[in-house]
Amino acid sequence: MRPHAMRGLAAGLALAGWCGCVTPGLLPVTTEQVARAENRWPDMTAERLQAARTLCASRCSGCHAPPDPRDRAPALWPGEVQRRAQRSHLDANQGEDMARYLETGAAVGEARPVVARTP
Ligand code: HEC
Repeated sequence: MRPHAMRGLAAGLALAGWCGCVTPGLLPVTTEQVARAENRWPDMTAERLQAARTLCASRCSGCHAPPDPRDRAPALWPGEVQRRAQRSHLDANQGEDMARYLETGAAVGEARPVVARTP
């Protein structure tokens, strides 16, 4: 794992409750997120979400900081991942799970402060 991804993970774990500051690195998978994902896609598991997060950390951080799920509305993520699947060497299953990780991360993160961005 890349050093900045490790920092993000450590910060994410340490913060457990959100402080409203902008933390580089991927949001950790939360139990709320897992529940949402399992409800939405009956075949989804916590392990798959976690694996998708790890994959995102490795494949989506080579060119820029890893994406923050809260930077996009949930429904926009599948398209964002699709657009970048080829350059990130994702197969269809990896792309699908990554979209699910980012989409549910955005959904559970909505209540948190978000730096608004236009798509
Ligand atoms: C080969 C390099 C490369 C890889 C790998 C890559 N990106 Fe990017 N990404 C870019 C570049 C360059 C930009 C800025 C231009 C653009 O929007 O395409 C960008 C922009 C973005 C943006 C828009 C950021 C903003 O400010 O709104 C998002 C979101 C994003 N990438 C997500 C991802 C995700 C998710 C992955 C993994 C599936 C990924 N990227 C992998 C190069 C990459």
